[in-house]
Amino acid sequence: MQRGYFITFEGLDGSGKTTQLRRLAAWLESEGHTVVTLRQPGGTTLGDRIRSILLDSRSEATLGPIAPLAEMALMFADRAQSIHEIILPALVAGHIVLCDRYTDSSEAYQGAGRQLGSERILAMHRAVCNNLQPDLTLLLLPSLDASLHRARRRNLRTTQQKGTDEGRFEREDDGFYRRIYQAYETIAAREPQRVAAIRDDAGIEDIQARIRQIVAARIAAPVI
Ligand code: TYD
Repeated sequence: MQRGYFITFEGLDGSGKTTQLRRLAAWLESEGHTVVTLRQPGGTTLGDRIRSILLDSRSEATLGPIAPLAEMALMFADRAQSIHEIILPALVAGHIVLCDRYTDSSEAYQGAGRQLGSERILAMHRAVCNNLQPDLTLLLLPSLDASLHRARRRNLRTTQQKGTDEGRFEREDDGFYRRIYQAYETIAAREPQRVAAIRDDAGIEDIQARIRQIVAARIAAPVI
């Protein structure tokens, strides 16, 4: 069975990963690869429903407060569906999959941010995702202050322009984001082979150049 290559992007809200993912996809395609992109939560019909429940800050007005464990379980329901519908079929077909957030987000946001603990998230990952791990994770960690500032500005702009509101997470306080930042650092230290952390506040072009270097070196190497 031929297997493609599975790359995830991680970082705080506003870390610039979505822009970097799009650019990387365009570059890989120009190099002749078939690329499949998706984001979590979302990407499938079921996942888009889950996304609107989880991210809209008005959800709780109709549903009541979402319990942290329910939030975690919904994130994994979304993930299981996208593995089944999108990720595994693309990898089996030999494509490159670029996924905007994956289980590291659950470990950082639900495990650390909501303080459910990493063990519970990793156990859920084994049970629900068959422990499917990315071949490479690009972790964008610009300074915490810069990330928070961008996330708040972006959320405000989106609400004004589209009338939609994906701000249930962006409403959280700074302690929540500090714990997430720390969790990403811990994951990077724990799995240095998988996680490439890019830590500075350089511009979009510079970071993209570094990402391409990392990816080119990895996809040239055989997948074990
Ligand atoms: P999104 O708009 O995709 O944000 P970003 O562009 O910053 O990635 O929103 C995803 C939000 O969902 C983000 O605040 C992180 C959160 N999230 C979790 O809390 N746990 C998860 O497992 C995932 C995938 C996302």
